[in-house]
Amino acid sequence: MNDRQDRYFDLPDQAGFLESTGGWALLGADALSVREDVFVNEQNVPPEIEQDDFDVTCMHIVIYSRGAGHYPKAIATGRVVVQPFGEALTGPVARIGRLAVRKAFRGIGLGTHLLTTLIEQAESQGLNQFELHSRVDAMPLYQRFGFLPSGPAFDEAGTPHILMVRSARSTD
Ligand SMILES: CC(C)(COP(=O)(O)OP(=O)(O)OC[C@H]1O[C@@H](n2cnc3c(N)ncnc32)[C@H](O)[C@@H]1OP(=O)(O)O)[C@@H](O)C(=O)NCCC(=O)NCCS
Repeated sequence: MNDRQDRYFDLPDQAGFLESTGGWALLGADALSVREDVFVNEQNVPPEIEQDDFDVTCMHIVIYSRGAGHYPKAIATGRVVVQPFGEALTGPVARIGRLAVRKAFRGIGLGTHLLTTLIEQAESQGLNQFELHSRVDAMPLYQRFGFLPSGPAFDEAGTPHILMVRSARSTD
């Protein structure tokens, strides 16, 4: 995936964001800068498991803050990996992951924007089944998009997580 799509957008309380979607070659460095800040520095996830083989083949999103006359800064990111079958769902699934917003920019709707775009991108490729590992405390965010918990909570990188699924049926 070597192309990149850019789109400007505003949020109700703050204007001037740029959303880029595309592959690792073009967005990897910026995605990694956000992920290192959030997962490695803030949440103490070991750097060696933060990046994986899916990164080079999957679709990424990076959101930039345009600021006032400054070089755009990468402030949020996420990815979607297409897999032939899911952990709980049968058939192809879009696995959303590495959703991260720099601390100073949380709570204004960027996480919601990331999720909306990732779901739209996957649906435009004909995918209608989604899975993700949610931090237990972040479940309400995904429930708003029709994700349902599946199975018991488990430890992932030292934090309780739960598998959440969204199929055509769960959004009826
Ligand atoms: C999860 C995350 C991406 C959400 O980004 P965000 O920009 O703050 O999301 P939004 O502003 O769209 O808010 C979405 C809602 O989810 C809630 N939410 C998100 N993460 C939450 C958490 N960890 N605990 C409690 N509520 C959370 C917000 O409070 C908000 O609800 P509200 O509108 O009723 O206040 C961000 O909190 C983050 O980067 N967290 C650290 C990285 C992380 O743990 N990522 C994996 C999550 S599974």
